[in-house]
Amino acid sequence: MDDKFDKIAVLTSGGDAPGMNAAIRAVVRAGRNAGLQVWGVNRGYEGLMKGDFIELSTRDVSEIISLGGTILKTARSVDFMEEEGRTKAKNMLEVYGIDALVVIGGDGSLKGANELSKLGFPVVGIPATIDNDVASTEYTIGFDTSVNTAVDAIDKIRDTSFSHERCSVIEVMGREAGWIAYNVGLAVGAEVILLPEVPYDINEDILKIILEGRNRGKHHYIVVVAEGCDDPIELAKTIEKNTDIETRASVLGYIQRGGSPTAKDRTEASLMGMRAVDCILEGRFNRVVVEKNGKITDVDLAKAVKMKKSLTNDEVLKALRLF
Ligand code: F6P
Repeated sequence: MDDKFDKIAVLTSGGDAPGMNAAIRAVVRAGRNAGLQVWGVNRGYEGLMKGDFIELSTRDVSEIISLGGTILKTARSVDFMEEEGRTKAKNMLEVYGIDALVVIGGDGSLKGANELSKLGFPVVGIPATIDNDVASTEYTIGFDTSVNTAVDAIDKIRDTSFSHERCSVIEVMGREAGWIAYNVGLAVGAEVILLPEVPYDINEDILKIILEGRNRGKHHYIVVVAEGCDDPIELAKTIEKNTDIETRASVLGYIQRGGSPTAKDRTEASLMGMRAVDCILEGRFNRVVVEKNGKITDVDLAKAVKMKKSLTNDEVLKALRLF
């Protein structure tokens, strides 16, 4: 390795995701094991612009693999979206003598990392968001925990829905993508799953399905709605008004972003963190670590941020009618 690359930094950015700590730990440990100095940047790009840096030792990241959230804190930075903010950030990295930066975050954070790389600063990205909407990778850290948290919550809602013979409308997160809703909906056996990617008709795809279920002898119903698809409270009112089935709405919200990461998220985060350090040690910069065909690898960051991924394939559409 070139002597120049002996000091790296790591930050978490955007919405937090369970497993971010496991990724930080892996970057710190793999970096330190290879003889690098590893610095943490607090509060994502906000901290980067302010020079809010702290050196991290192997011991500093002990006991964090099982922790939700991020010990480095996170932020959605408006200033970093401007050239001026990014130049400030680059200057701070130079003030601290940092040679390369690892960015752990979702789509927006990786786009930010790409912009920084355009200023000539070496970066490596690690995809982490509960939404699983980063196109270059099959998996983003936090998704599995989030899905399991939502499934656990809906299993509880199901108990009361069953007892009261109600219809329960449950909104899950996912920004503009339906990965969480699709996976959660399948896992709880929802009668209706509404995804932003799939247009739906209120009569055909919701009311008729519920009424047909009732006529077949069903007594309670689960409707999973991806955020942004429909207002869950209004939808619940429409269902109740048109079917005479008592209907309640629940918004799961930020509960889906917290909690101890599942084994899958800890493993993915550990492998992705290690791979990010490998990229730096091998002099491969401006990369993003991804999962491809179930294997951890890395791809060009500039190309990765331009990719699009869609949930709408025939298998998904067929599964939406599995109830
Ligand atoms: O990207 C993760 C996510 O939790 C989305 O599912 C949601 O739309 C958004 O973040 C909420 O963001 P904020 O934390 O800014 O309210």
